[in-house]
Amino acid sequence: FVDKYLQDQHWVITAGPTREAIDPVRYISNHSSGKMGYAIAHAALRAGAQVTLISGPVNIPAPAGCELIQVTSAEQMHQQALTYVPKATTFVACAAVADYRVANIADEKIKKDNERMQISLIKNHDIVADVANLANKPFIVGFAAETQNVEHYARGKLMRKNLDLIAANDVAKAGQGFNSDDNALTLYSAIDKIEIPLANKQIVAKQLVSLINQHYLAKNTE
Ligand code: PMT
Repeated sequence: FVDKYLQDQHWVITAGPTREAIDPVRYISNHSSGKMGYAIAHAALRAGAQVTLISGPVNIPAPAGCELIQVTSAEQMHQQALTYVPKATTFVACAAVADYRVANIADEKIKKDNERMQISLIKNHDIVADVANLANKPFIVGFAAETQNVEHYARGKLMRKNLDLIAANDVAKAGQGFNSDDNALTLYSAIDKIEIPLANKQIVAKQLVSLINQHYLAKNTE
């Protein structure tokens, strides 16, 4: 029987990709399947937390017992995150959010009349950074998906986005990261570095949830 050690906590978790429309039939997106974020939601639920899962479009079922908020674009995810976070003890940003959106979404399907075309992009809000700027902020865990200099970039994001923890994955390695069933993470705080070795995302998520809680308790009993 699973220990309900998160009984008094409410976790808000983002998962999956976002889609940025170009015209009514096309979009810009990425390879996130939602598996990592959904596994974290599942593990947090099993440990007794109340879970709100804010998800981009994915093809996997949400874990039973979570509150599922479905979104498509980064700006929708941003809006829903800021709506639900005030109730949260913990925010985990596992979604692969598009950094940019299309400046002018075409009303009609774009025709292939030209040899070249350009799409102008504008920056999206940074969801996890905006959550970290709230006066009454929860405990905040970001992710870093990197293809090189993993520790350097992850620590940079931890500091710049003002996070409590960041879980870094090397998404250049085969058999882990985007869309795979397995993952390996390195969890950084300002002082700690903890390795979660390559395993099925359900197993990785279970360890991650427990480590997040240990750091949450340490911070909140300071
Ligand atoms: O979904 P899967 O197929 O299981 O794959 C899992 C995963 C590889 C997507 C996941 O483990 C992961 O790394 N998620 C974060 C992906 C990402 O966008 O990383 P990033 O380094 O670009 O972003 C850094 C952090 O800022 C992330 O917490 C991200 O959610 C957040 N962010 C980024 C941009 C933005 N506009 N708003 C954000 O909140």
